[in-house]
Amino acid sequence: MYQSISEKDDRQPLLLPVTASKNTKEQRRRKAPKWQKIVSEVTILTLLSFAGVMMLFVLFMIPKVMSSDSHGSTRVLEDSAWKVLKEHVHLLDVPSITRDEFLQRQSKLVAALSEAGVDAFIAEPSASSSYYANISGSFELSERPFLMILDKEGQFSYLAPKFELDRVAGLSMVFEDKKVIEWREEESPYEVLKRETSYRKIMLDEHVRFMIAAGIQATGVEVVPMSETIQSLRSVKTEAELAILRGINAFTLQLVRSLQKTIQIGMTQEVIFNAASTLFSRAGVGKGYWAIVLFGDQAASPHGGSSGKTLKDGEFVLIDIGSKLHNYGSDVTRTILPAKSKVSMELMDVWKTVHAAQSAAVEHMNINETCSVVDAASRKVITDVGLGEFYTHRLGHGLGLEMHEHPYLNGANNEKLKVGEVVTNEPGIYVTTNQAKKLDKDVGFGVRLEDPILVTKNGGVPLTGSRANSPYEP
Ligand SMILES: *[C@@H]1O[C@H](CO)[C@@H](O)[C@H](O)[C@H]1NC(C)=O
Ligand SMILES: *[C@@H]1O[C@H](CO)[C@@H](O)[C@H](O)[C@H]1NC(C)=O
Repeated sequence: MYQSISEKDDRQPLLLPVTASKNTKEQRRRKAPKWQKIVSEVTILTLLSFAGVMMLFVLFMIPKVMSSDSHGSTRVLEDSAWKVLKEHVHLLDVPSITRDEFLQRQSKLVAALSEAGVDAFIAEPSASSSYYANISGSFELSERPFLMILDKEGQFSYLAPKFELDRVAGLSMVFEDKKVIEWREEESPYEVLKRETSYRKIMLDEHVRFMIAAGIQATGVEVVPMSETIQSLRSVKTEAELAILRGINAFTLQLVRSLQKTIQIGMTQEVIFNAASTLFSRAGVGKGYWAIVLFGDQAASPHGGSSGKTLKDGEFVLIDIGSKLHNYGSDVTRTILPAKSKVSMELMDVWKTVHAAQSAAVEHMNINETCSVVDAASRKVITDVGLGEFYTHRLGHGLGLEMHEHPYLNGANNEKLKVGEVVTNEPGIYVTTNQAKKLDKDVGFGVRLEDPILVTKNGGVPLTGSRANSPYEP
């Protein structure tokens, strides 16, 4: 992910060194006639004030001119992109998850717990607590445990520090009825948990910290890791979740398309990054915005890094971007060209290879297909043209309440895809300028295309609405 680049000014005022020593000044005073002395003093004064004015100009004017220019271009880009994008804001018009659906999630978990032979499931504030009980994952974790508990009898409870009960009660938790297990500062929260429940075996959510696992285990209660079955309760999406994911991902793609129509050669990365931020905010989904914007050989590093680059003709723009709607994320990548820009035929071929790799993977995003097989299908296309070593990362990851979640599409994962899972399909080819020279090219590049794909009975369906056609039709 990309951090907004704050304007920084490292310029220090230039201190003019005082070179004339007392001695030489005095010698001059003694030797030089009075009129010469006056002229030289006037000259020095003039030079000094000229230098002063220049210094003030450098210090105050140049940064102003530069920043007003970059704010100006951001504004121009944002305004022209918005004209295209505003037609698509209705895509975000999707309801959030209802109370009923939260309760259904809890019942499914309860049933799965009995099947797994454990007494209860425990999560800390995380995507899972957010999924089952609407306990925000952004509730700050501290050394004092606050745990969401669902047991196999269907009881919802939470364990919380006594002095925090008011703050915890202020969360918009969803439950049928609740039991509060409070612990006082002079007690062990884990002993309290054991005393207040009769659990002997507890399944911990994957994000529960080791401290909690060790604490529970030390009381003699068995802890087991989250099973694949329980993992898949959250990775398989419902219609309501799919509607949200479709909304935010289709909108995100439209935002990239609106940028493609309006980006121009000579723009900086920051201008594009800031314009995209404002566009999401104008549509009401600015919270959760992130983006990676890379030009030319910068994209040779998949997550980029450097900043301050200006777009040149013949350079791809790689935009990997997303935001959130009702807590669900979008994650879309396009490698684009502004209408007036052209790249070499070789680079265009690289783009087409990545597109073909993405197509091959979509074909495999079927029910019961093995994750590693889907990854391999995309890899084969790139390996066949001799660029396999430059496809340096896995094909993709699950997408939902977390930007990266189960299942992961990599060469080591033998899980099978399930209907209703949403996974990103994001092959890429990355060649640094050093590597490019060995391939008889002058300059490096990076190309990636990414769409979140819904696994259905009839193959993969892009939640963005449609995949890219070319760098000019993203
Ligand atoms: C879930 O929590 C959010 C605030 O975090 C709240 O706006 C929403 O209404 C809650 N949902 C339910 C079903 O209570
Ligand atoms: C997928 O696999 C499951 C479990 O192996 C099986 O029951 C089901 O019939 C399979 N579905 C299809 C469409 O092959």
